[in-house]
Amino acid sequence: MLLPPELAHKVSHGVFRVLYPAPRRYIPDPLLATKVLGLEFTNPVGMAAGFDKDAKISKTLFRAGFGFVEVGTLTPLAQKGNPKPRLFRLPEDDALINRLGFNNQGFKRALKRLENFPKSKRRGPLGINIGANKTSSNPIADYLEGLERFFRIADYFTINISSPNTPGLRDLQSPEKFGDLLKKLRNKWSELAGKSNGKGPPLLIKIAPDLEKGQLKMIIDQALKANIDGLIISNTTLDRPSSLKSSKKDTEGGLSGQPLFEKSTAVLAQAYKLSGGKLALVGVGGVANSRQAYEKILAGASLVQLYTGLIFEGPSLANTLNRGLADILRSNGYSSVAEAVGKGVKV
Ligand SMILES: Cc1cc2nc3c(=O)[nH]c(=O)nc-3n(C[C@H](O)[C@H](O)[C@H](O)COP(=O)(O)O)c2cc1C
Repeated sequence: MLLPPELAHKVSHGVFRVLYPAPRRYIPDPLLATKVLGLEFTNPVGMAAGFDKDAKISKTLFRAGFGFVEVGTLTPLAQKGNPKPRLFRLPEDDALINRLGFNNQGFKRALKRLENFPKSKRRGPLGINIGANKTSSNPIADYLEGLERFFRIADYFTINISSPNTPGLRDLQSPEKFGDLLKKLRNKWSELAGKSNGKGPPLLIKIAPDLEKGQLKMIIDQALKANIDGLIISNTTLDRPSSLKSSKKDTEGGLSGQPLFEKSTAVLAQAYKLSGGKLALVGVGGVANSRQAYEKILAGASLVQLYTGLIFEGPSLANTLNRGLADILRSNGYSSVAEAVGKGVKV
């Protein structure tokens, strides 16, 4: 029997725990080891935000072969998210549509869990993805609170202003609001770093693939101005490509998986070109095999993330994908991930 998608998701957490109950002696191919954002990664393939919203199975995800794990999106206060059903499978398209709306248990509970999973015990970087509460009267303050709460716990931060499921959130990517948001984030970061030997977790911004003409350039110019460390490209799309076959295709929400691959990779390549390699780029959207991870790297990604691919391919995906990626890199004459970054983009 096919379980409803949201229940299946919960069950998948259990499956991971059963399959990866203890540390394994799995050593990824040394060719995949990479240093990005000043952080060491055993491999460049990470778990994208949304799967481990409340930091419940981060440790298990590292065991399953992910080189890094992004927790969240977390909001200051716990919230239920949108009414169910709110997660839909489009099997004919290898895609999902979700309108979860940041269902999560809030900062406090995640913080408590992560205190039991300190940096010293992690096999790779753990990112904290921050959002704003739906009913917040001051969304920017929610992000600043996130920085403050998780400053010592996070290996990196992702500022999520690109979920399509919280009304008004994507407006923070607009020219009127984006620069101001980044300035406030950087000021808060500097204040916190000041109490911490001037050091702190790198700051990344997660953007939507649905941008107006000129908006990506504005985002990159502002990000460089505010010394942002990187961009995560991209979140789900509101587009509905004409290729979609599933009867659910017109369901409201963000579309992820195969139909997002091309669009998100095109935005990534453009961002690589526009930023001249000055920002670390994380490529996400429709990665379900080694070849697609390699294409993201060629398009300018120093790191790759995935979510929907895991739902269709199963929990061994990170390991199989990494094995294949090392082979592809080697057979194309690369001796590291970094060497291949952006090689597919004409600058
Ligand atoms: C069910 C679901 C929930 C998600 N929740 C979040 C979230 O809380 N925060 C976030 O930044 N992205 C979230 N995402 C977006 C993913 O992190 C990713 O950017 C997007 O799905 C594209 O990658 P994919 O095609 O590999 O899934 C979610 C995606 C899905 C499918």
